[in-house]
Amino acid sequence: MTRPAALITGASSGIGLSFAHHLARTGHDLILVARREDRLRAIAEELSAEHSIDIEVMVADLADPDDLDLVEERLQDGEPVALFVNNAGFAAFGKVGEGDREDMTDMLLLNVVAFSRLADAAMAGMKRAGQGTIINVGSGTLFTKLPGYAGYGATKAYVAYYTRVMQVEAKDSGIRVQLLIPGVTATDFHAVAGHSVDDFPAERVMEADDLVVASLRGLELGEAVCIPSLPDIADWDALEAAEARIAPNASRDKVAARYHG
Ligand SMILES: NC(=O)c1ccc[n+]([C@@H]2O[C@H](COP(=O)([O-])OP(=O)(O)OC[C@H]3O[C@@H](n4cnc5c(N)ncnc54)[C@H](OP(=O)(O)O)[C@@H]3O)[C@@H](O)[C@H]2O)c1
Repeated sequence: MTRPAALITGASSGIGLSFAHHLARTGHDLILVARREDRLRAIAEELSAEHSIDIEVMVADLADPDDLDLVEERLQDGEPVALFVNNAGFAAFGKVGEGDREDMTDMLLLNVVAFSRLADAAMAGMKRAGQGTIINVGSGTLFTKLPGYAGYGATKAYVAYYTRVMQVEAKDSGIRVQLLIPGVTATDFHAVAGHSVDDFPAERVMEADDLVVASLRGLELGEAVCIPSLPDIADWDALEAAEARIAPNASRDKVAARYHG
């Protein structure tokens, strides 16, 4: 590979596929990861022909430890990856007490275990190279309490916390880490969760391409957190300020006055 390389998980559809198109256009070689080999090969053929770039296809079920190992190795020990889009994920829908626990476990394996192991491997590889960019894909469920999405929302709260600590740790390392927080996006995600994207009012649904343009622009702006549809990023800053007020009082040697008596 001769151009900066971008590894994208979940590159066979939706947001990951849109990243593949945009990064191909901006002169990246690509490493495309997902389970559906036919789709990945067709995408690789199309993008390499259109943009004269090198594309590596890694067919991997990231919930499978052996497949996950291979992608980790590629990120940590392979030819340097300049940009890692940690994107693959899905929602196991179901109210607590009514859900499919196997589905829930598969979701945790992908959204939490694979997400963390790949973030860790990418950071290790980029530390070796002294540079790189990681985009971790969270979700706007972070700001909601949606019935049926307790597990999914919790996995994305995990992504958010993990990423925010990565950002603190990566300070002055030359490695950028973006927390990307999509709202409802027009992809297969909703069908996979057993719904239709048409259930949402059109004004709440973003196209994946618009989301990806915002994410890449957010990197240029140096934003740590990209919430593409949020008009004023000061709202996020206010959330962080509220946390900073609570933090010192969340651990004290005495209970608060309202618990006395
Ligand atoms: N769409 C939304 O409204 C929305 C909102 C907030 C956050 N997000 C997040 O955005 C990310 C991308 O989702 P999307 O909206 O683009 O949905 P999508 O179109 O369903 O894409 C999901 C991608 O993940 C891959 N994937 C699923 N299971 C996998 C596994 N076990 N191993 C490897 N790859 C796997 C799929 O490919 P294969 O099936 O080929 O493996 C596919 O490429 C997810 O993390 C999702 O949680 C989406």
